[in-house]
Amino acid sequence: QEEHIAIAIDGPAAAGKSTVAKIVAEKLNYIYVDTGAMYRALTLKALNDGVDPSDEAAVINLLLETNIELANDSTGQRVILDGKDVTEEIRYQPVSANVSYIAKLTAVRQEMLKRQRELAKDRGVVMDGRDIGTHVLPGAQVKIFLVASVDERAKRRHDENIAKGIPSDLDQLKAEIEKRDEIDTNRETAPLVKADDAVELDTTSLSIHEVVHSILQEVEKYKNKQN
Ligand code: CDP
Ligand code: CDP
Repeated sequence: QEEHIAIAIDGPAAAGKSTVAKIVAEKLNYIYVDTGAMYRALTLKALNDGVDPSDEAAVINLLLETNIELANDSTGQRVILDGKDVTEEIRYQPVSANVSYIAKLTAVRQEMLKRQRELAKDRGVVMDGRDIGTHVLPGAQVKIFLVASVDERAKRRHDENIAKGIPSDLDQLKAEIEKRDEIDTNRETAPLVKADDAVELDTTSLSIHEVVHSILQEVEKYKNKQN
């Protein structure tokens, strides 16, 4: 019987986490969980319902009555908010601009952590986010911390937007990414930080394929240690 391995992939915005996590999950036949999508879905609902992102009591109440489903399919991961597919909408700029304020609320993080652990239970999983290796799955067998220069990350997100036909301004993107990283790094609860036992990979000049290869090597290393 094969062991269920958990792979935690953390790092700042647009470092390439979800792109490589998805591919690694496919190759290993594990499920892929994009935890950022859960915070984004809640943020979208708060904006639509006129709930103030800094009002902790209002936001946690909203979350407790919100159903967020992550469905793996051939196109990657679909995000279903209260029965509605919001996969594209949660990437829009107003969500990006507000998500870190919602994600710094302690009560929100506690509830998300519970839901994320439930999704990872008893199965092989690749989970990406900010606090997976440090808080959500501290026992993950393989932990990766992906970084890249902010210029490269802004450029990647910009190119992605252009390819999808989404209006995009490189300077504005870079400012938004820096702002988000700052809030995520400096918050009190489960901030963005490399876990002590995570392997750091600087992807600034690496291709997607090279990053995937390095992560699969870490998985092999772990498996070989077990034998
Ligand atoms: O894909 P991108 O790097 O733009 O961000 P994301 O992974 O979709 O995450 C959006 C935001 O959710 C982050 O900037 C964090 O504020 C928050 N987040 C978090 O606090 N903890 C996680 N485990 C995942 C995301
Ligand atoms: O999930 P996260 O926000 O960390 O990043 P992402 O959405 O997976 O990646 C942002 C963009 O960078 C995607 O369009 C990837 O195709 C691209 N990318 C890249 O160009 N080179 C890499 N080594 C990794 C990702």
